[in-house]
Amino acid sequence: MCGIVGYIGNKPIKEILIDGLRELEYRGYDSAGIAVLQNHQFSLFKAIGKLINLEEKTKNFETTGFSVGIGHTRWATHGKPTELNAHPHVGENSCVVHNGIIENYQELKNMLIQQGVKFLSQTDTEVIVHLFEYHLRTAATPFDAFTQTLKKLKGSYAILLVSASADETIFFAKNGSPMILGRNGEGETLFGSSDAALIGKCHEVIYLEDGQYGVATAQTIALYDQFNHAVELRFIPLSENKLSAQKEGFRFFMEKEVYEQSRVISDTLMGRLGDERIYFEELDATLFEGINEIKLCACGTSYHAAMVASYLFERHSKIRTSVEIASEFRYREPFLTHDTLFVVISQSGETADTLESLKMAKKAGLKTLVICNVDNSSMVRLADASILTRAGIEKGVASTKAFATQVSVLWMLSLMLAGMRKTLETTEIKRQIHLLRTLPATVKVDEALHEQLRRLSKRYLNGHGFFFIGRDVFFPLALEGALKLKEISYLHAEGYPSGEMKHGPIALADPGLYTIALLPQHKLYDKTKSNVEELSARDSTICSISPLDFNKADDHIRTKLSEDYMVEFFEMMVVLQLFSMEIAIRLGNDIDMPRNLAKSVTVE
Ligand code: AGP
Repeated sequence: MCGIVGYIGNKPIKEILIDGLRELEYRGYDSAGIAVLQNHQFSLFKAIGKLINLEEKTKNFETTGFSVGIGHTRWATHGKPTELNAHPHVGENSCVVHNGIIENYQELKNMLIQQGVKFLSQTDTEVIVHLFEYHLRTAATPFDAFTQTLKKLKGSYAILLVSASADETIFFAKNGSPMILGRNGEGETLFGSSDAALIGKCHEVIYLEDGQYGVATAQTIALYDQFNHAVELRFIPLSENKLSAQKEGFRFFMEKEVYEQSRVISDTLMGRLGDERIYFEELDATLFEGINEIKLCACGTSYHAAMVASYLFERHSKIRTSVEIASEFRYREPFLTHDTLFVVISQSGETADTLESLKMAKKAGLKTLVICNVDNSSMVRLADASILTRAGIEKGVASTKAFATQVSVLWMLSLMLAGMRKTLETTEIKRQIHLLRTLPATVKVDEALHEQLRRLSKRYLNGHGFFFIGRDVFFPLALEGALKLKEISYLHAEGYPSGEMKHGPIALADPGLYTIALLPQHKLYDKTKSNVEELSARDSTICSISPLDFNKADDHIRTKLSEDYMVEFFEMMVVLQLFSMEIAIRLGNDIDMPRNLAKSVTVE
């Protein structure tokens, strides 16, 4: 997720902007830049890679006296990490930085190109500054041009825009991506996409709300709501703890990332959902020409996402699909054919076993696709095509939002393929696109449910093991739930197909065996229910997760009634993530950096 800073004041501005960006590094980025406006003159600096490269470029740049400036660290969503794609983006005499995704950028870009505008970058962001200058030609004031620009934007954004047409001014807007406005006793005004960038520089802040926008100068700040009504400036004191600021009030990065799933899934879906079809503009249709089979390959949580996809590809796209654990695939001399599309899934894009598997597939002459969270990673650079999951940096070693966005992308991909292969009726594709649109709301954490899981966790600390059981896509979800628990609580847990319990594992059933049973209403409920009853009859301690009441369990977590099993999947995913986290918290473990684990396993 990108980082944004802004400053209005009399201090040397370069250090303030770059120090602010440094506090946002934890969000992950692949390029950075600043733009400073002083005496109607712009100074613009951009660099790919880390901030040290930007510092090198600005080492001879200093300002004295009043100036305004904006800065940005970019997490690539549209366009590779290059200097041209780095923010700030410039027009004739204006600069803009942006966090989020402009969903209708292509149509705006086409209109502006027809008006003779020349674009330099591949980004969605660049349309903002050119649209502003387009309106500047006829607007009564630069602020009017800014408000007219905002009216045209669809999607998520946090924007800072400066223009020589409005010297000493920063225009700002917030919709879907975070933006915080701060001030101090020295008449300075600052902006940040996280309060981590403002700590030590401001005493009081306003956390802008969606739809709010305004204009700030050295003397005044004007704030408006989505109805263009003036909003009273209600500043609140700013906390002084930087690390807690990076966690934005959550106890752990993992917890923050579970709560972020609603927003990041919105970003994942942004620009990809049509009314009747799916769009992946990053894919060329030729990728699928001559393809009769899909082989998915990954490790860990990403492997579980691949397993979910295998059900969806065969069910929706009617294409033979297999799933490989990368560390096994590498050494089993696999039989590969050129009509197979090799799809690797990886949050980091650097996992050694998955990367080597990708190399094997390329060497065997297969077409390759990577679904990844890090642009410009080794796998993205190596594969024939890539789809970015747009989850933003995932700091918790136990993967959560990466998994959620991987499954979202794979579900969309299965529908895109179904449309291309005409294996689903348009009405069914439309229905599932409607379901996808409900995901941000589905994964939004219900505080009461979280509190229930926190209370319940104390009862699951001392068993001799856990079984997480489910059928169909709830089997890989059970595997994922077991992995989450193992990773952070260090308690033993297994994911198992419900129907397999009677083939041996049920011998373990006793009160000390905890069974977490996934009982979706819309997928094999009765079959799974009877499997759970077999365990209950042998006095296993059972925690059932279902939208339907189930009286054979010791504990029951009631999820919402929904219209489809894939919606149930995402809701149960959140339950399993939080349940594991609350157990691990009670055990006093390091939630974000569990023992023995690394965020990216770049060794065999
Ligand atoms: C998941 O919680 C773990 N951190 C681990 O299993 C991870 O999914 C696996 O190492 C694969 O990583 P990747 O997605 O970056 O390739």
